[in-house]
Amino acid sequence: MQIEVVADKAALGEVAAERILQAYDAGALQVLGVATGGTPISTYRELARRSDGRLHDIRLAALDEYVGLPADHPGSYTTFVREQIAEPLGIPHGQVGVPRAEADDLAAAAANFERQLQENGGVDLQILGIGANGHIGFNEPGSQVDSRTRAVTLADRTRRDNARFFDSPEDVPHEALTQGIGTILEARSILLLASGARKAEALARAMEQTPTAECPASWLQLHPAVFVVADEAAAASLSP
Ligand code: F6R
Repeated sequence: MQIEVVADKAALGEVAAERILQAYDAGALQVLGVATGGTPISTYRELARRSDGRLHDIRLAALDEYVGLPADHPGSYTTFVREQIAEPLGIPHGQVGVPRAEADDLAAAAANFERQLQENGGVDLQILGIGANGHIGFNEPGSQVDSRTRAVTLADRTRRDNARFFDSPEDVPHEALTQGIGTILEARSILLLASGARKAEALARAMEQTPTAECPASWLQLHPAVFVVADEAAAASLSP
């Protein structure tokens, strides 16, 4: 795993957006895998600013979606991807794939999402954030390296951390549909973003500990093309 440490979240967004545009301009970006949450927002903002509409022909594939929220709920990841990524980049609705966690049959929705990823040729570049407990997507501690898209129960810590996106902490769903670790590792390249002191311990475990299900992000060490962009606060616990 290679890493670039930058001063703060704004610089992180600039570096990450530049890498995404380089991939696109080199003809190596048809499907962009997108994380939601707070960390990548500066990246999406920079991407919209720098791309001048030229990313309108790519596809977006989301990592995850809450179970139990209507897709048009303000806290849903379907809403996030539409408002923060697709609309600013001018990407039409038909080019956006988010796991359909509203479906009655979640196993079928998961299988369908995997099939669509395959049909679209797989993810060229996957953007990831990291949870304070080491999760990627919603693969919480205990997630195995060969896991696929599936329904999962969110860790209490994850629900607490994500309460800021909801009116009240009880509104945070207990379950999600998430790409599995095995699914994520099939992306051709991965851009892992980490910002803030709350991520320092998880990032150090992810990069330096022997890969283990206890820190799902550590499975990324098995991927040949992971690039990490971290701000100084998130990089503070890495070995010199
Ligand atoms: C989001 C996702 C999560 C987040 C992680 C960090 O689609 O899958 O893994 O990337 O929870 O969230 P933030 O950036 O809000 O700290």
